[in-house]
Amino acid sequence: MSILIRGGTVVNADRAFRADVLTDGDKVVAVGPNLEAPAGARVIDAGGQYVMPGGIDPHTHMNLPFMGTVTQDDFFTGTAAGLAGGNTTIIDFVIPNPQQNLIEAYQQWRGWAQKAAGDYTFHVAITWWDDTVHRDMGILVRDHGVNSFKHFMAYKNAIMADDETLVKSFRRALELGAIPTVHAENGELVYQLQQDLLKRGLTGPSSHPLSRPPMVEAEAANRAIAIAGVLGTPVYIVHVSCAESLEAITRARANGQRVYGEALAGHLIVDDSVYASPDFDFAAGHVMSPPFRSKHHQDALWHGLQGGNLHTTATDHCTFCAEQKAAGKNDFTKIPNGCAGVEDRMAVIWDAGVNTGRLTPSEFVKVTSANAAQIFNIYPRKGVVAVGADADIVVWDPEGQRTISAKTQHNKGGFNVFEGRTVKGIPTTTVAAGKVVWHGGQLMAVEGAGRHIDRPAFAPVSAK
Ligand code: URP
Ligand code: ZN
Ligand code: ZN
Ligand code: ZN
Repeated sequence: MSILIRGGTVVNADRAFRADVLTDGDKVVAVGPNLEAPAGARVIDAGGQYVMPGGIDPHTHMNLPFMGTVTQDDFFTGTAAGLAGGNTTIIDFVIPNPQQNLIEAYQQWRGWAQKAAGDYTFHVAITWWDDTVHRDMGILVRDHGVNSFKHFMAYKNAIMADDETLVKSFRRALELGAIPTVHAENGELVYQLQQDLLKRGLTGPSSHPLSRPPMVEAEAANRAIAIAGVLGTPVYIVHVSCAESLEAITRARANGQRVYGEALAGHLIVDDSVYASPDFDFAAGHVMSPPFRSKHHQDALWHGLQGGNLHTTATDHCTFCAEQKAAGKNDFTKIPNGCAGVEDRMAVIWDAGVNTGRLTPSEFVKVTSANAAQIFNIYPRKGVVAVGADADIVVWDPEGQRTISAKTQHNKGGFNVFEGRTVKGIPTTTVAAGKVVWHGGQLMAVEGAGRHIDRPAFAPVSAK
């Protein structure tokens, strides 16, 4: 099966140029002017549109058991929603329970992911430490295509990694040629602030951001960066939400340290006024960690992306419905943390990034696919439209418009943090692994069509 995408402008991270794109099976086989359609090829007219690498969301949680419940989106519904939004690959997280064997947890997640409609690969969280964890990190890197490990510095009494775990795991990752990543929030501080707020009777969702102020995040970002700096490992900070964390990254990079930062579409676009709503479902629907922040921080995040100190955009897609969020009706610390976004990331970042002149189309490709592919070592298989790359392509109409709503979204959860936002710039066709999966507003996602993508280790000396 061949697809010829004709008449568009190919946008890669390095340049944009007029070219047709031909796929054969799951690969791109030609990029150039006036390509002939082979017999039987499907021809897609991309006149006036951009032809870009399919999005890579480097931070999602499908089918996640978390805070006493399980996310609404499984690997099928979540990846299918991604395809409707031009996102063809996700990097999800295996999160072993403390004391759970890593390989067993990894196999559990691989089982859940069998039904994915789009490609997927996994970061593995290090939530505890002993010699078997040290050993199993090696097995995951050598035999299972894992090259990144996640550390939650928050979620005390659950999955939080203490400093001993951070240090030992970062050192092991360096030895293996894998990159450590962190959720940077001081879990002890969060816990103590939560208890203080509850004692004062401040039990509603408006207390959520009060328990996680910017310095709680920045302390952890600085600590993770310092540990990585001492050990000589690179480090990737997930969901950077505030100016102070970005400053830590910027300072470390200016000093020659290899530090990467990720911004979430939600943090770039939604501000903290949502927590002041008297409507519990609305405010709780926005409860995620770190929380949404003020415009000052949003501006800083855009500057980070523009200036090259933040590298990727993600969503932290983690859907809980109103009934699940209601577990925290009388205690905000029990509201399951998480919001959706995998379907909307590309469009909201195009609209708020490219349409405003903050990002060029090529910079958009950098922050929505190419950089993630490079940092997590799947480039140029992913993240570029080029001969030999996977046929993961989005045809993008810069004039097309859509009003985002939970009523029309494909993911589950019944809530959307971008509700009511009209975006200009939408995917008209998504091709995943050489198949048309989204076209003319029709989703043709196939359960189980997604593939696990092995990510090879880096040379073990990739740190400064
Ligand atoms: O609130 C969030 N972000 N939920 C998902 C888990 C995490 O911390 O990434
Ligand atoms: Zn997190
Ligand atoms: Zn997350
Ligand atoms: Zn429900």
